[in-house]
Amino acid sequence: MKKVLLPSLLSADFSQLDRELDRIEVAGVDHLHLDIMDGHYVPNISFGPGLIQKLRPRTDLFFDAHLMVEEPDPFLGDFKKAGCDLVTVHLEASTHIHRTIQAIHALGMKAGLALNPGTSTEGLSYLMNELDLILVMSVNPGFGGQSFIPSALEKIKDIRQKIDRSGRKIILEVDGGIKKDNVEEVIRAGADWLVAGSAVFSPGKTETNAREFLEIISRY
Ligand code: DX5
Ligand code: ZN
Repeated sequence: MKKVLLPSLLSADFSQLDRELDRIEVAGVDHLHLDIMDGHYVPNISFGPGLIQKLRPRTDLFFDAHLMVEEPDPFLGDFKKAGCDLVTVHLEASTHIHRTIQAIHALGMKAGLALNPGTSTEGLSYLMNELDLILVMSVNPGFGGQSFIPSALEKIKDIRQKIDRSGRKIILEVDGGIKKDNVEEVIRAGADWLVAGSAVFSPGKTETNAREFLEIISRY
C-alpha cells in the first residue's frame, strides 16, 4: 500500500489556516488529519465540524477526522455534513463501538478505530471485518508535540500481522511523535499512513518539512 503523510491541522497556525493549507498542498500533500478534542475524553479542546465545513470548499485534500470525543454517535452526522471522508473513533469512547462503526458507514464515510498506547489489540478481533482503518496511537491523545512511545512499534507489528492474515485491505495509521528521524522505523514496523503535526507545521519551515517527509516516505 502506498505510504501517505497526513499533516495534523492541530499544529497549524489557526490565525492563517488558508495559507497553512497552501503550504502543504504546494509541497504535494493530499491528506489532512483533523484532531477533534472534546475536553472530556481528552484533557484538551480543539475545534469541531463547523471549522471543517468552512475548509471543505477550499481544498480537495482527503479529510481524515480523528474524534477524541466521548460518545461520538450524536455528532457523526455533523462530520459527514462538514465533508469528512473518514472518521476514526476510540475503542473506549463509545459504549457500543460496533454500532458506532456501523453508523459511520451508514453515513457514507470510511470508518477507523483508534487504540491508545495502553489498549491491547484484543478488542479488534470482532471488529476487523467492519474497519477501513486501524489507528495506533503512539502518544496518549490530547496534545501535539509529545514524544513517540516506543512500545507502539510492537503494537504496529502485531496489527500488521493481523491485517495481513485477515486478507482485507485495512489501512494501518500511526499518530503521535512522528518525526523525520523516526518515520522510517514506523514504516518498517508496518504503518501505511503517517500522521505528523509539530514535525510538519512550523513557522517558516512548513513547506520544506512536508517536502522532506514526502521524499522519505516515497522510498517505501
Ligand atoms: C494527539 C493527536 C495527534 C497530534 C500529533 O492527540 O491525535 O494527531 O496532533 O501531533 P505530533 O505529530 O506533534 O505528535
Ligand atoms: Zn490525531
